[in-house]
This record gives sequence, structure tokens and C-alpha cells, in this order.
Amino acid sequence: MTDTPNDDPNAVAPSVENLETIVSLSKRRGFVFPSSEIYGGINAVWDYGPLGVELKNNVKRAWWRAMVQERDDIVGLDAGILMHPQVWVTSGHVASFSDPLVECATDHRRFRLDELPGTEGLSATDLGDPTIVQRLGLKCPVDGGPLSAPRRFNLMFKTYMGPVEEDAAIVYLRPETAQGSYVNFKNVQQSTRKKLPFGIAQVGKSFRNEISPGNFVFRMREFEQMEMQYFVRPEEAARTFDEWLPRRWDWYTRYGVTPERLRFREHAPDELAHYAKKAIDIEYRFPFGWKELEGIHNRGNFDLSNHQAATGENLEYFDPATEEHFTPWIVETAGGPDRAAFTFLIDAYREEEVRGEKRVVLGLHPDLAPYKVAVLPLLKKRPEIVDLCHQILADLKHNFMAVYDDTAAIGKLYRRQDEIGTPWCITVDVESLEDGAVTVRDRDSMTQERIPVERVKAAILDRLAAVQG
Ligand code: GAP
Repeated sequence: MTDTPNDDPNAVAPSVENLETIVSLSKRRGFVFPSSEIYGGINAVWDYGPLGVELKNNVKRAWWRAMVQERDDIVGLDAGILMHPQVWVTSGHVASFSDPLVECATDHRRFRLDELPGTEGLSATDLGDPTIVQRLGLKCPVDGGPLSAPRRFNLMFKTYMGPVEEDAAIVYLRPETAQGSYVNFKNVQQSTRKKLPFGIAQVGKSFRNEISPGNFVFRMREFEQMEMQYFVRPEEAARTFDEWLPRRWDWYTRYGVTPERLRFREHAPDELAHYAKKAIDIEYRFPFGWKELEGIHNRGNFDLSNHQAATGENLEYFDPATEEHFTPWIVETAGGPDRAAFTFLIDAYREEEVRGEKRVVLGLHPDLAPYKVAVLPLLKKRPEIVDLCHQILADLKHNFMAVYDDTAAIGKLYRRQDEIGTPWCITVDVESLEDGAVTVRDRDSMTQERIPVERVKAAILDRLAAVQG
């Protein structure tokens, strides 16, 4: 773990120079497709293909395992995407969940002010200055036209609930999962009898009408979040915040992210979200620069006390040990499976030369890999070999994702599995029919081991257990 932010974006090289390498691999191999592609696509929405859905589900499982399953003090929740609209007034999102937007007078394109060339390194105070466009002489990056003064653009999507489309029926698509945990604080605490400190974890969809989405799945308008709200005594909040920083960092490195491509970055006071007392991002060195991967926030008692004031519901906690009533403070860890899966994918990508040929490998952690095993016949024309492959496959599929492929020669089949991150390939050959053993090939070392068919599943399960740590 390091806490030395390095401000030079070029001091640490990204795992992949060109984002297009990942975008084209994702499309070609079925990780991610543009949404509604046959209609020309829809901006900032992406669909996960057969391999992508496995990867993202594995990321969510790994997060849930670390954040809920392995902990006694955190429980899960799955709240609705649609909530009472007043929740978003109370939470401050209706008034403050906005980005600064500027519009070109000639082509009417709209941009997020802080993403325009020439605004790098500006403080939030500068970005809020109504004269900033004039002062810096900023122009439309597409046609050089004059830009308007910035105005705040609210990022929440609105829709109507019920059969009448009128203002009274407006509801919002949640822009964060966190509020579902806050409004359920009492329900969860009373039903589980949890004592402070304890946490509520959620994974689910959130929506933001981002002004300038992009960089593939990095910033989308429909995405998922993995958020955990940890409720503590007020005087414990600062220490708890410090404890979650290395835990969340270690989760990324445990699943393979190169530590040198991670850094912490603390938000300046004028940059803090409306709810935050303190915020530190874990940033990753993406091909397009250092960007937020996850945020750790000290939200104080902002959310619970506002909900209490708005509803009249008592959201205080009674501490039986000290006989005190107080409003808990909240330390939040806020990440997302899309950005995490994207990071694991980029960081795992490598190109190697093996016996004069290029080999593309996704060195994904086996827990995250879409398939754990591929079962391959050396000769697909021999029905006994194919039969044995299918017997092995059916047995493995009870325990984990495994796949059969016979659409090319063995060398090519190995390369295809390397490129999608499959940690182990099992090859059935003519000898297997005589000695009842198969070859197990390791993705990273490319070493091969002969294992009796009846021991194959146990051998793979052993290897999976060994990397789970
Ligand atoms: N509850 C606090 C909160 O929502 P945030 O930093 O705005 O904090 C948390 O978002 C995480 O959600 C981000 O670190 C990122 O992983 C994910 N996220 C946010 N906006 C996103 C978007 N437009 N596309 C993909 N992921 C996004």
C-alpha cells in the first residue's frame, strides 16, 4: 500500500497503451457489446456478453464474499431503484447532485466544464466561477465556437410513477445505492439486532445522466455500484475511515491489480460531495490517466439526521453499554463492479512472445476468470475422445463454469482460452483412452501435468482453493 500520490500521469505506465485494444477484445470475444447496436447504439450504455456477465458476476461475488460473507459486522440489503421522491430532496441530490455544464453557441454541443482542455488542475472553486469561461478564453473543442457561462446540470434521471404523467408523479432512478441503506437503517438494525459498529452492503444498478460519459464502461449512464455503509459512534468515524482505506486497497491487489497502478487521492475541501466530511479515492492508472476506482467517504451524520428531520422517525441508536442515544456517523466504501471489472480486465492484459509467436493472455485471478476450465479434444474425429471430454465437462460443471471447444487445432484452442483468461485447459488425447489420464495445462506457466480422470475435479478445486488465500 502506498499513500504517495504521483501527479505525473506518465510516471506510471498503464497496463495497456491504447484503450481500443480492450474495447476490440471485449467485442470480439463477447465481454462487452454496445447497447442496441443494430439501431446504431445508445450513448453510454453497454451490454455484457456471455464472458462479460461471468466476469462481472465473479467480481460482485468476490466483493460480497469480502464485505459480507467473511465479516460478522456487515449484512446485505437489496433496496429498490425507485424510492420515495422526497428521499432525494432530503439527501441533497435534488439541490446539489450536479456537474458544471457549458454549451457551444454554434453547434449546441454540451460539455462538462472540468473535462474541457485547459481546465486541468482547476479547483472546484474555480470551476464554480461564472466568469471562468471568459477568464480562460475557453472555446468549443469541436468547432472552436464560443461557450456559454457554466450552469449546474442535475444528473438524476426522472420518470413517472403510475398512469399519470404529471409533476406530482415524478420519481427518480437512484443515482447511488447508499440512500436505500440509510432509509432502512432502523429496519436492518432491529431485525438483525446488530450493535454498533455494523455495516449494510448493497450491490445494484444506479443511474446518472452524465454530461460527458465515455472511456468505454468507465463512465456510463446506467451502471452498478457496490457500496457499503458502516455505522459507527461519532468519535470512531475518523479511525474507522482510516481502517477501510487499506482494506479496500488490498481487495483490489488480492484479485490481481498491480499496486503500482493504484494510488490514494484525497478530495480538496471545495471538491467534496455535498454529504462528505472527508473523501479519499482509490485511483487506478487507466490508459486515459489516473481516475477514480472507488471512493471512501466519511459522511458524518448528514444522511441519518436529515432523514430523521424530514420524516420525524427516530433514527437514533441506543447504546445499551453507555445508555446513550445518538445519531450514528457513516463511513462509506463506494465502488462499482463495472469499473472494477474494467480495471481487472485492463490490468490482466498482456502480450507475450512464445516460440516466435504472439500470445495474448488475460492473467485474470482464477476466481474472476469467466471459465475456470476448458475441456479440449486433441482429435475431434475420435468419438471416444469427444465422449470422454463431455463426461469430464458434465462433472466439472456442477462446481464451476467450464466449456468445451473443438473448433480448431489444439494450439489455437489454447491461445483462445489464454485470451479470455481461462486458468486451466484439460486435453483428452488417444493415450487418455488407454491410461485414463488427461493433460492439465496451466495458463500462466504453460506447464502441463498428467492427471487421472477421476482426480481432475479435485485437482482443479485444490488449485482454486489455493489461490483463494
Ligand atoms: N454513494 C457515494 C457515491 O455514489 P461516487 O464516487 O459518486 O460515490 C461510487 O460513486 C462509485 O460508483 C465510483 O467509484 C464508481 O466505481 C461507480 N460509478 C459512479 N459513477 C459511475 C458511472 N457513471 N459509470 C460507472 N461507474 C460509476
